[in-house]
Amino acid sequence: MDPFSTSYESNPVLAGIERRSSMRQFAADRPTPEQRQAVLHAATRAPSAGAMMMYSIIDIQEPSTLERLAVLCDNQPFIAKAPWALVFVVDYAKWIALFEHVGCFTDEFAERCGKAPRRAPHMGDFAIAAQDAVIAAQTAAIAAEAVGLGSCYIGDVVEQAEQMAELLELPPHTMPLSMLVAGVPAKERPATPHPVTNIVMPERYRPADGATLDAQVAEMDAMFRPHATEPGERVRDIYVRKHTSAFMAEMDRSVRAWIDNWTGEKPLL
Ligand SMILES: Cc1cc2nc3c(=O)[nH]c(=O)nc-3n(C[C@H](O)[C@H](O)[C@H](O)COP(=O)(O)O)c2cc1C
Repeated sequence: MDPFSTSYESNPVLAGIERRSSMRQFAADRPTPEQRQAVLHAATRAPSAGAMMMYSIIDIQEPSTLERLAVLCDNQPFIAKAPWALVFVVDYAKWIALFEHVGCFTDEFAERCGKAPRRAPHMGDFAIAAQDAVIAAQTAAIAAEAVGLGSCYIGDVVEQAEQMAELLELPPHTMPLSMLVAGVPAKERPATPHPVTNIVMPERYRPADGATLDAQVAEMDAMFRPHATEPGERVRDIYVRKHTSAFMAEMDRSVRAWIDNWTGEKPLL
């Protein structure tokens, strides 16, 4: 960060990005209506493909729903203790409804526009709409930091598709892709170290050579396993705890079900 330290200190947006860390412990005070409004408004200011806003934000404060989310999201009890959760749903159901509403699926319109009716969204629509949803989520996360709230993503929101669809009443052509829990931080947390090796590639993709892999391993061990006795402890730990985990097997199963819900081939509800 050295070359940029001046602007990162003096620029409030960059300083907030630098300061943010995932918050998993929240104070008893609840986010104020002004803080909540600032975060929700910021989300809607995020870039959106064609300004189509292909997402919905489920704004959750009900303790029983937070408790259920804690269980469905791989049993993470801190979710139930958070005052607020936002589920960012990739949403094409609203566009299907709009198309229907203004007569796009009628024979008369098909003739007028010269296009065969196309109803269900497919994977291309998903690639774009998913970006909309995640960009809105990250804009909300930055806004939360800016108004003094802490937040944490919950990737496990894509698990347990059947029960999640029922809990949040998610129709065909939707998928909950991102979730943030947020609240007043219980205490300040130092920023988490983030590796930087082998991320930015000038002009084209460059597969890592042996020296680069060694540098990545060393950087990660220094950050996350400072007492490692052998190089590679952090990478082996990720392999065991994440790459080969039961939660990843469940995500894999569940995301397939969500994709079938997205296209409408097999609606979950
Ligand atoms: C897509 C995504 C999913 C995540 N899922 C979880 C989660 O389920 N539980 C959790 O405690 N943290 C989760 N996190 C938070 C990360 O663990 C955290 O961002 C990472 O350790 C880096 O720390 P920092 O956010 O403090 O910089 C997730 C973050 C992202 C971006």
